[in-house]
Amino acid sequence: MAYSELNAPIRTIMTPGPVEVDPRVLRAMSTPILGQFDPAFTTIMNEVMEMLRSVFQTKNKWAFPIDGTSRSGNEAILCSIIEPGDKVLVPIFGRFGHLLVEICERYGAEVHTMECPWGEVFEPEAVIAEIKKVSPKITAIVHGETSTGCMQPMKEIGLACRELGVLLVVDAVASIGGTDVKVDEWCIDGLIGGTQKCLSVPPGMAPITYNERIEEIIQSRKKVERGIATDEDNQNVSGRPPIASNYFDLSMLQDYWGPRRLNHHTEATSMIYALREGLRLVLEEGLETRFARHELHETALVEGIKAMGLTLFGDGNNKLPCVTCIDIPKGIDGEAVRAMLLNEFGIEIASSFGPLQGKIWRIGTMGFSCRKENILFVLASFEAVLLRQGFQVNRGEALQAALDVYVGKTEKLVASRGSL
Ligand SMILES: Cc1ncc(COP(=O)(O)O)c(C=O)c1O
Repeated sequence: MAYSELNAPIRTIMTPGPVEVDPRVLRAMSTPILGQFDPAFTTIMNEVMEMLRSVFQTKNKWAFPIDGTSRSGNEAILCSIIEPGDKVLVPIFGRFGHLLVEICERYGAEVHTMECPWGEVFEPEAVIAEIKKVSPKITAIVHGETSTGCMQPMKEIGLACRELGVLLVVDAVASIGGTDVKVDEWCIDGLIGGTQKCLSVPPGMAPITYNERIEEIIQSRKKVERGIATDEDNQNVSGRPPIASNYFDLSMLQDYWGPRRLNHHTEATSMIYALREGLRLVLEEGLETRFARHELHETALVEGIKAMGLTLFGDGNNKLPCVTCIDIPKGIDGEAVRAMLLNEFGIEIASSFGPLQGKIWRIGTMGFSCRKENILFVLASFEAVLLRQGFQVNRGEALQAALDVYVGKTEKLVASRGSL
C-alpha cells in the first residue's frame, strides 16, 4: 500500500481559526451516522436549534446551521433577501467586509460601501448617517473583523436600522461564543456565526439566525423543488422571483429544518454531532464565564507581548478579545518567525491579508485553544524565536507579565469568593 495511515502532527493552534477542537467534540464526531429523517436524528436537529438560540441570545424561531464554511452562512442570508437592484450598504473595515460586498454583488445588489482604515472601526453615527443618505434595503457588516482584530460596536447601528426600516445582517463568525453577541437586544435581523473559531468545532458549518422580518421576505419568494412539491405547493407558488441559489435558499432550508421536514440536501450528520457538542460545551461553561475566560487569556497574552517590547496593531478601544494583532518590527521577517514557531515548537500563528500582509502577526485566543498553558507556551516560544531572528526582546519579561495577570486574577477571585 503506497500511502501510510493518516498521521497529522499535533499542533498548538493560535490562529484566528480554525482552532484546536475540543476533544469532546472530536469524540462526538465518531458517533454512528443516523438517517436524516430518523426521529432520533431530528430530535438532535431540534436540540441544535434550541442551543443555537441560547448562544445567539435570541428568541428567533429560525436558528440552524448551513452546511458549508462560514461564508456559506453569509451567502445563504444575503442571497435569500437580495433581489436584483436592491440597495445594500456595506461598511468595510477589513477583509471580510470585502467578502460581504463580493457576495452581494454576485446576487445583483446595488452595493454602496464606506471604508475606514484597517485597524479602526466606524463611529456608529457615521454608519447611521450613511444609512440615511443611501437608504438601503439592507446594511451588511462584520462584527469581529478577524483580519484586523477590531470589533465594531453594533447596538446603536442596530437600533437605527430598526427605526429606519433597514435590515441589518451581521457577520459574527469570529465573535460568536467568544464575546457578547446580543442578536435581539442589538436589533440584528440576520446573523452568521462560525464553528471553527470560538466554538471550537471543525470548519464546515455556519450557524445562522434570522427574525420574522427576514422570514417574511423569504416566504414571499418561496419555492419547492419540482420533484418534491405537492399539488398544494404548486398552487401556493408566489409571483416573486425565486431565490437565486438552490443550495442556500432559506425558504427550502426552513422547510427542511422546520416541522415539515421536506427533503433538501443530505445533512452533514457528523458535523451536526460536532456542533451539538460544541454548543453544549458553551452552555455548560455559561456565556458570561466563557467570555470572561476569553478576556482573561487575551489580557495575559497582551501583557506578555507588550512586556516583551512589541507593539500592538489597531484601535485598542475596539479590540476583538479573541484576536490580538502585533506589529512586525522593522527588519524582522514575519514569515521566518511563523515558520520557526511551527517547525521548532509546533505552534501556528497567522499573518494577515491585503494591506496588512507582512506588517502584522495575528494570534487567536479562541475556544479550546484559549487556555493558560497555550498562552504561556506561545509567549515563551515567541520570545525564543524573536531572539533567534535578531529582535532584542526584554528577556524573561513576557512570561512574568502574563503570570502576573493570572496570579492577580486568582487573588481577586479568592478575595471575592473567600476560596477557590
Ligand atoms: C469574520 C469572518 N467572516 C467570514 C469568514 C469566512 O469564513 P470561511 O473561510 O469559513 O468561509 C471568516 C474566515 O476567517 C471570518 O473571519
